[in-house]
Amino acid sequence: MSERKLRSEEWFARTGKDGFIYRAWMKNQGIPEHEFKSKPIIGICNTWSELTPCNAHFKELAQSVKNGIFEAGGFPVEFPVMSLGETLMKPTAMLFRNLVSMDVEESIRANPLDGIVLLCGCDKTTPALIMGACSVDIPTIVVSGGSMLTGKFRGKDIGTSDIWRFFADYQTGQMNDEDMYTAEACLARSQGHCAVMGTASSMACMVESLGLSLPQNAAIPAPDSRRKVLAHLSGNRIVEMIREDLKLSDILTRKAFENAITVNAAIGGSTNFIIHLLAIAARIGVDLTIDDFDTTGNQIPLLANLQPSGKYFMEDFFYAGGLPALMKELHEKLNSGIITVSGKPMAQNYENSECYNRDIITTLDKPFNQVAGITVLKGNLCKNGAVMKPSAASVHLLQHIGKAVVFENIEDFNKRINDPQLDVDENSVLVLKNVGPKGYPGMPEVGNMLIPKKLLDKGITDMVRISDGRMSGTGFGTVVLHISPEAAVGGTLAIVQDGDIIELDYRNRLLNVRLSDEEIASRKLNRADDAAIALRGYAHLYQTHVEQAHLGADLDFLKGNSGSKVLRDSH
Ligand code: FES
Ligand code: MG
Repeated sequence: MSERKLRSEEWFARTGKDGFIYRAWMKNQGIPEHEFKSKPIIGICNTWSELTPCNAHFKELAQSVKNGIFEAGGFPVEFPVMSLGETLMKPTAMLFRNLVSMDVEESIRANPLDGIVLLCGCDKTTPALIMGACSVDIPTIVVSGGSMLTGKFRGKDIGTSDIWRFFADYQTGQMNDEDMYTAEACLARSQGHCAVMGTASSMACMVESLGLSLPQNAAIPAPDSRRKVLAHLSGNRIVEMIREDLKLSDILTRKAFENAITVNAAIGGSTNFIIHLLAIAARIGVDLTIDDFDTTGNQIPLLANLQPSGKYFMEDFFYAGGLPALMKELHEKLNSGIITVSGKPMAQNYENSECYNRDIITTLDKPFNQVAGITVLKGNLCKNGAVMKPSAASVHLLQHIGKAVVFENIEDFNKRINDPQLDVDENSVLVLKNVGPKGYPGMPEVGNMLIPKKLLDKGITDMVRISDGRMSGTGFGTVVLHISPEAAVGGTLAIVQDGDIIELDYRNRLLNVRLSDEEIASRKLNRADDAAIALRGYAHLYQTHVEQAHLGADLDFLKGNSGSKVLRDSH
């Protein structure tokens, strides 16, 4: 083993009472001393849970990681952290991302660990685990859980984005109850996370493009045996990373974040990516702002023809060559020399890859869509920024002026959106307030509001919709999200009224309400109070400390890094 002292030796190589206790209680698991003394000890941070269906196969995956760690001469210890499933958790899994990051950070620092393997999937476990690990900064590698197999419904390929279409069809009577029951059994038909380029897939691509995983981590389907091989090899590699002392801060440089932004643009990744990447950057101490997403990403065309911006699914993406094949196309746009968990320059992760299907992974010369990336809008409605994903929007709505139809909160929206008397037409702009980080703690994915039924009946499938909330990465439409400052902290959004004129100017990156500064100021004076704050528990902590979306919606006191040292003993 290396000459450098292992962090875990602070526990297991100790003399006296403390060392006695540390070792004795490892031996009670039937582990011989030579396994955990003087060997690198690797924590496998597992988000397995039967309440997180996307991660429910992680026990098997952890076993493959363990096999790799043992083989390379390390000793694995698996530990659970709180898991976050998108589908079951109320009010939104995002409320708990920062809580999980605290769980991860403290679990790593407090324990005798020399390195970490993060097992993550679904949307929020990936950023949560990386954020927590960044605040400790020991050698870390990520293994994602992989996506589901493509859904199959009556001869058609389907994925999570079809849920929005199914419900529009259900509203207009094109699908009935029986159709819906059949569809729900066909959609999520294997282990793994959503099979479109939603947030979970975007997070898996983020991991690979940041250099935090071995190549092909992003797209190998969850049930494919090669996912286990990748987990095994990642177990091998973390042991070497400890020997090399290759830490997160060595990999997560500003250039790595630029690569992730470039790749997210080219894959048509989720808008949630912005919030998560900003939060990760703030933990590792890299200066990244919301404007970087537009300046770095806006020259990048959409290369991947994947839902929700295109046609195909993650399984197809893998068979077409996966993320390495796409990154090879992007080579000239990437910082290709920076180091990754492999210990080698990024370019080595993709230079020998091949594309097997140009319909799915297109080229810079002939991209799937010239329009890609994330557009950051500014204006009197969003002084600190708002975002939209033009590749998932309707071209005819990108420059739009329309009358506001205002909903004060999600309950108001749900109550009135299908009211036949609602004064709304296809040129209206739907405005939803109080769904930001503080106003609806966790900032749920309600930004891609349903189109009113009476307009669906007329064949209208998209409208300009603006809010301070988020949208599922599987969602689409001309949807402006993450308005900052949010309504609940007194942003201009709070004072918008029915009939105000809203102007979306994609070309000039503007979102404005046509009101004078004086009118805005006077309405703000008369507006209702800020959001009610939960009186106790985590929701109270969250609401009193959460930052705005343009900063990553982390808790203000969690930014940065406290290192891996623990100076005081427990006994
Ligand atoms: Fe887990 Fe979509 S529900 S990724
Ligand atoms: Mg999602």
